[in-house]
Amino acid sequence: MEFITLSNGIQMPILGYGVFQIPPQEAERCVADALSVGYRLIDTAQAYFNEEGVGDAIAESGIPREEIFLVTKVWISNNGEKKAAASIDESLRKLKTDYIDLLLIHQAYGDVFGTWRAMEKAYRDGKVRAIGVSNFQAGRFFDLAHYVDVKPMVNQLQCNVMVQQRGIEPILAEFYTKMMAWGPLGGQGVDGIVKNEKLAAIGSKYGKSAAQVALRWLTQRGIVAIPKSSHKERMEQNLNVLDFTLTADEMAAIAGLNEHDSGLVNFGDPQFVKYLIENYG
Ligand SMILES: NC(=O)c1ccc[n+]([C@@H]2O[C@H](COP(=O)([O-])OP(=O)(O)OC[C@H]3O[C@@H](n4cnc5c(N)ncnc54)[C@H](OP(=O)(O)O)[C@@H]3O)[C@@H](O)[C@H]2O)c1
Repeated sequence: MEFITLSNGIQMPILGYGVFQIPPQEAERCVADALSVGYRLIDTAQAYFNEEGVGDAIAESGIPREEIFLVTKVWISNNGEKKAAASIDESLRKLKTDYIDLLLIHQAYGDVFGTWRAMEKAYRDGKVRAIGVSNFQAGRFFDLAHYVDVKPMVNQLQCNVMVQQRGIEPILAEFYTKMMAWGPLGGQGVDGIVKNEKLAAIGSKYGKSAAQVALRWLTQRGIVAIPKSSHKERMEQNLNVLDFTLTADEMAAIAGLNEHDSGLVNFGDPQFVKYLIENYG
């Protein structure tokens, strides 16, 4: 495994396993499979309703806790200092652990400064080893990062060969914040990437699939990728991407696939914000 170093010196695996949309009853089996094939970073969230299954799989795995990098996220309904603090304790209970490796604010709405204060306290109390945000586009990210004491160590964003997030890179660099890619294979729009002919052609040279090239391209940029699959053979395939190196020309050719630099979801669209808050806030 390759690691990146966060601004506080913590080492984080560059590849992990994401559990969005894995139903609670399947989470334990999926995470057990992921750990058995070699993943040591697991990305969950309060809003995925599967923290308990993730915690069960880790507890049952027999793998020492310190070898696993566990990520979860505070959902918008728990934003604000008091609610966020209570939700962190609830996540710890569900995950059956006394610390979280990386805790993120899931969405940039509501009292995120209050949430951040609760996260800073949890960080200082040793309940979390690193703190960060998710889905904070450049302006919102800068606003939070500028005013808070402990700067966000990670921003988890939609990022893949078609959504390359070049625009936010200098802003993240200003605060030594690392990018973590959700939807690294395109998520719902997965076919565009895993069946992409250019990626497949590049992969054929290395005996790799288009999906593997897409993941290698992210990790070569120093971006942490957390592909999700319910299938063990795909979990293995997605992890097996660090034994080849794309050339500079191949990296440049893939850079040309960028279609929606800052993502397909416009987090600043009032209709989207209204929908999210009214349905999930
Ligand atoms: N912070 C956020 O707001 C946010 C939002 C979305 C996701 N995330 C995180 O990011 C993780 C990954 O994102 P994602 O789940 O949206 O999308 P993704 O990992 O880009 O894609 C997952 C899809 O790709 C398929 N797949 C996986 N490996 C494949 C392969 N080698 N070949 C062909 N198809 C493959 C999966 O199908 P099968 O399962 O059937 O194999 C699934 O349909 C999530 O699980 C979650 O942890 C975070």
